[in-house]
Amino acid sequence: MESLVKGVHHITLCPGGAQEDVDFFTKVLGQRMVKQTVLMDGSIPIYHLYYANADVEIGSVATTFPYSRKQGRSGSGQLSATSYTVSKGTASFWKEHLDRHKVEHSGIQERFGSKFIRFRHPAGLLFEVVEDAKDHRKGWTTKEISGDVATHGFLGAVLSVRDVRDQESFFTDALGFKKVGVDGPYHRFEVAGGGPSKTIDLHHEPDRLPGSWGFGAGTAHHIAFNVETDDALVKQKAVYEELGFTDASEIKDRFYFHSMYVRSPGGILVECTANVPGGFYQDEAPEDLGTKLHLPPWYEEQRQAIVSQLEPISVPEENRPKPGTTSAPRPVAAAHHAPESEAALPLSRYKATFDTGKQT
Ligand SMILES: [Fe+2]
Repeated sequence: MESLVKGVHHITLCPGGAQEDVDFFTKVLGQRMVKQTVLMDGSIPIYHLYYANADVEIGSVATTFPYSRKQGRSGSGQLSATSYTVSKGTASFWKEHLDRHKVEHSGIQERFGSKFIRFRHPAGLLFEVVEDAKDHRKGWTTKEISGDVATHGFLGAVLSVRDVRDQESFFTDALGFKKVGVDGPYHRFEVAGGGPSKTIDLHHEPDRLPGSWGFGAGTAHHIAFNVETDDALVKQKAVYEELGFTDASEIKDRFYFHSMYVRSPGGILVECTANVPGGFYQDEAPEDLGTKLHLPPWYEEQRQAIVSQLEPISVPEENRPKPGTTSAPRPVAAAHHAPESEAALPLSRYKATFDTGKQT
């Protein structure tokens, strides 16, 4: 049976300071900043920053909640590394590039026959570039990172678990992945044909203490998988419930997509997403993506209270596409697969009050 999950949609991480995060993603990882918005849960204003490849493709989108208010604790039961593909033969470029930026890294290693380097964000989060000969998605380029060495998008992610068994069942039975191999402590799973943005490695770390689950600097918050349509989201929730995962969330309106969350047995929070018409292009033109703060319409009237509590950030000029270099927005699947009327799918929105008195 075809799986509802088509691959990774986005990966969401909690760094610390916002500007430090912008600098790492745009200058070190060479990502394009594609959206500045805010966390849509709770009543404390927290940025939600989005970074992606040149075409803003699903499966290349890393999002961050800069959460300098509280330190997280890294450990098992968490997404432990976010993995990007790079072209074959480019690991040595990345080693030199990371050295130039004084980024702590592992040197060139090998897993499942591919060269990779693991390295650390200033907040402690781990990333990888993994050589992959078949990924031809268009990477964003910077002064230092040309098209031939740029990251193409996600390979996937590494998830740390103390016990592989139940997390493996969750990936195969609930999400439709297939187990394709084991390399030392790494267990590889693929979905929808496998390859870039469809690959997950479980890292078996039986002695590693559990990490924290809530928002906290230096820890990943969740991984999201693309099921494409609202109809598939409803079906995915039913799959969870049939397997006994009764704690799957309601379906939430995240403005740029719809979301549903469940805590997986190994501890990692897993989101599934459905596309909405317009996607990231609903509120800004392709050449303006990521250049200024956008709020969902139901927060707009509180803009001043929200902005006054956020750290000012500046986006590097090279992040702004030169005229004529931006691809046309890719149409997103969705509307015609949606349930017959909006009323058929109740969407949850939390409309908080952002009281400036809450500032810490
Ligand atoms: Fe998410």
